Amino acid sequence: KNIVILISGGGSNMAAIVRAAERDRWAERFGARIAAVISNKAEAGGLALAASHGIATAVVPHQAFDSREAFDAALAEAVDAHAPALVVLAGFMRILTPGFVARYAGRLVNIHPSLLPAFPGLHTHQRAIEAGCKVAGVTVHQVTAELDHGPILAQAVVPVLPDDTAATLAARVLSQEHLLYPRAIAGWLLDTLSHKA
Ligand code: GRF
Repeated sequence: KNIVILISGGGSNMAAIVRAAERDRWAERFGARIAAVISNKAEAGGLALAASHGIATAVVPHQAFDSREAFDAALAEAVDAHAPALVVLAGFMRILTPGFVARYAGRLVNIHPSLLPAFPGLHTHQRAIEAGCKVAGVTVHQVTAELDHGPILAQAVVPVLPDDTAATLAARVLSQEHLLYPRAIAGWLLDTLSHKA
């Protein structure tokens, strides 16, 4: 089972997934491997890390396309080159067209740094602080056509502390993202295996 990970930036979630796949022997346990990491930005720091683990990398620069449909078609071509069983969005900061989402229905997952359905979209930590939330967190969910919606696969909660800024809260949430995302993907792989057994 090939897993393709899409990133736009630092790729710390991708790195956590790559390390978990090695540490927890996903190849032996699930027949799963990280086949490729694809970015819409050539400067994404995560690409070098992926390459250093022997993972294929590719860049599909969104600026080179004059519509979302054209970008998504090129992205789908790059993704499909690896015949993925699962496509993982990990800090991938482009909104995908309904056509792209439909193509990977049931095998496309995302991580979002809030307790969905609260705070879809951007600036989640600032919005949680401004709303006076006492807890914040992270959600792994299946991707549907509506942004940051879709069936929830896993969540983790962190406290919002009195002196938190968006940055301190983001760091606390991100450390939980790194634990939750690999665990949620392993759960998805196990589930997929048992359905096919
Ligand atoms: C994470 O907080 C993720 O939930 C959000 O963007 C951030 C990406 O971080 N969508 P990284 O690229 O995985 O380090």
